[in-house]
Amino acid sequence: MERARQIIHPRWVRIAHWLNALSIVIMVTSGWQIYNASPIWHFTFPASITLGGWLAGGTMWHFAAMWVLFANGLIYLALNFVSGRIARKFLPIAPGEVLRELGDALRLKLAHNDLSHYNSLQRCAYLFVWLDVALLICSGLVLWKSVQFPLLRELLGGYDTARVVHFVAMALIVAFVFIHLVMVALVPRSLMPMIRGR
Ligand code: HEM
Repeated sequence: MERARQIIHPRWVRIAHWLNALSIVIMVTSGWQIYNASPIWHFTFPASITLGGWLAGGTMWHFAAMWVLFANGLIYLALNFVSGRIARKFLPIAPGEVLRELGDALRLKLAHNDLSHYNSLQRCAYLFVWLDVALLICSGLVLWKSVQFPLLRELLGGYDTARVVHFVAMALIVAFVFIHLVMVALVPRSLMPMIRGR
């Protein structure tokens, strides 16, 4: 009983989190490789931070990690819904509280003493990242199977616009991961519960 009470992140959350982190890193770096083969803008990513070695290699990594991200995300979301964890950990979000906490965070005064509780800023960030991953998957589907998903393609403004949407959603994920890692560095004791549960 005492042991159960100390569990902050159940095992399934931890497995999903680390599988997700790994697949996002693979998808982003192999995505940069694919982008370099046909850049949208006048820049490319340095080869040293891309994965796959060449276009086909990058595509293979991208598609392999895509299935991990998709299946893992689906299981993670389903378990969050079924267990009622969404309502418990991620809702409600009060806009006033978010603004106040944002001010505290910018002044490096945001407390995170109770690791079993996410503050409103975290709730916003995590819900945002779920939606952003969903947008990445939808826009990715359009780029992969453009002919098979005509409605999705038109909703995203056509193939070329879907490419821009996919890129911007990737950039937002990278920004999230950067801020996420800064937050973990500022509250390092939050890391162990995401590894060991306690
Ligand atoms: C090496 C990289 C990463 C580290 C060290 C890390 C670390 C952590 C830690 C310590 C927490 C718990 C925060 C707390 O208790 O206050 C957390 C939660 C979370 N992280 Fe990460 N993370 C990483 C990568 C990622 C990536 C790439 C994503 C998604 C793009 C992500 C999404 C999330 C989400 C959604 C949660 C909330 C999980 C839940 O409770 O269901 N993380 N992470």
